[in-house]
Amino acid sequence: MTPSHDNTAEHPVRVGMIGAGWPGERHADGYLAAPGCRIVAVADSHPERGEIFAARYGKPREGMPIAVYKDYHELLADKSIDAVSVALPNFLHRPATVAALDAGKHVLCEKPPALNAAEAREMTDAARRSGKLLAFALQRRFSPAVEAVHEAVVAGELGEVYHARAVWARTWGVPSGVGAWFTDPARAGGGALIDIGVHVLDMGWYLMGCPAPATVSGQVFNKFPHETKTDDSAFALVRFADGRSLHLETSWVLAQAEEEFAVHLYGTRGGARVSDNRLDFYTVAAAERTSRGRVISAGWQQAFLKQSANFIAAVRGETELRTPGEHGAQVMAMIDGIYRSAREGREVVLDAR
Ligand SMILES: NC(=O)c1ccc[n+]([C@@H]2O[C@H](COP(=O)([O-])OP(=O)(O)OC[C@H]3O[C@@H](n4cnc5c(N)ncnc54)[C@H](O)[C@@H]3O)[C@@H](O)[C@H]2O)c1
Repeated sequence: MTPSHDNTAEHPVRVGMIGAGWPGERHADGYLAAPGCRIVAVADSHPERGEIFAARYGKPREGMPIAVYKDYHELLADKSIDAVSVALPNFLHRPATVAALDAGKHVLCEKPPALNAAEAREMTDAARRSGKLLAFALQRRFSPAVEAVHEAVVAGELGEVYHARAVWARTWGVPSGVGAWFTDPARAGGGALIDIGVHVLDMGWYLMGCPAPATVSGQVFNKFPHETKTDDSAFALVRFADGRSLHLETSWVLAQAEEEFAVHLYGTRGGARVSDNRLDFYTVAAAERTSRGRVISAGWQQAFLKQSANFIAAVRGETELRTPGEHGAQVMAMIDGIYRSAREGREVVLDAR
C-alpha cells in the first residue's frame, strides 16, 4: 500500500487518538517523540478522559491544541486528520478501524486485532479498499531484546529455527474489572489467550519469520468460573506448512511459583530465550554448550515509542510497517484455530488466507 502523505516538514502527519486510556497514552508518548507528526484530536466516550488527555499531550500555548470529541465518528469527519490510533476495548476494534479506513485515515489499532479472524479480515479488506495503511499494536516486535534476536535469526546465527516455545503464564493476573468487558466473551472475543497469549504467539511467530500456519491443536481451560466466563489458560501446538512448529502456553492464573514470560527459539546452530528485559543465546557445538546472556535495560516503554515512530514513518512513505494488518489477521486465524480445536477436541486445519 502506498501512502500518499505530503512528506514535507511543513506537513506533519495529523494524528487523531480514539481512546484516551492507558494504551492510548502509550501511543501518544510515541507520537510526541516521533518526528513528522502532531496529535490534533482525541475522542473518548468517558466524560473527562478526553479533556485530561488534551491537557497532558496538547501544547495550546505553542499553537498545538488538541480537539476533544466524545464520539469518534465526529473525529473521523475531520478531513485534516491523516491517521488515527484505535485504543478501544476489543469489540470496538473492527467498527472503529473500518470506519477510520473508510474515512481515508491510516490506522494503528491495539491488540488483539479483533474478536476473531473474520473481523480481522474485514479490517484488512477495508485497508486494501481505502489504500491506507493498517498496523496492529503488537509492540513487542519493537522491544530491543526481540529486535536483537530477530537480527540474529535473519543473519542465520541460529541456523534453521525449527521450533519455538512461547510462554506468558501469570500466577494471578485476571484483568481488573472482572465482570466488565475483559472477561465477557462477547466483548473480549476470548480470555487469557486473546488478551496476553496474543503477544507471545506473535513474538514467536515473528521471530520464526512468520511461516504459514497449517494446523492447530489446542486446549483451553476455565478453572475459575466464579471470576470469569472466558478461558483463563490456553495451551496449543501450531504446525506450519514448512514442517516447523510453535508451542504456546498462556494463562492469567496458574498454580506455579512465579510469572513466566519468555519466547524460546530452538535452531540447528543455536537457541535463544527472549523476554521483555533479557535475552540469552545458546550454542550447541558437538558436546559443548555455551551461552551468552545480555540484560536489556530499555524496558517496554521503548517498544511503544518505536511502534508509533514506525507507523508514522510508514505513513510518510519512509519505511515499511513492521506490524502490518495481514500479520494481525494471521495471528487471529491461529487464535481462532486454538479455540476451535479446543471446542471440537481435535487438531484443526487453518484457512490459508
Ligand atoms: N499493547 C498492549 O500492551 C496493551 C496493554 C493494555 C491494553 N491493550 C489493549 O488496549 C485496548 C483498550 O484496553 P482498555 O479498555 O483496558 O484501556 P483503557 O480502559 O485504559 O482505555 C480505553 C478507553 O476507551 C474509551 N472508550 C470506551 N468505549 C469507547 C467508545 N465507544 N468511544 C470512545 N471511547 C471509548 C474508554 O473511556 C477508555 O478511556 C484493549 O484492546 C486492550 O487489549 C493493549
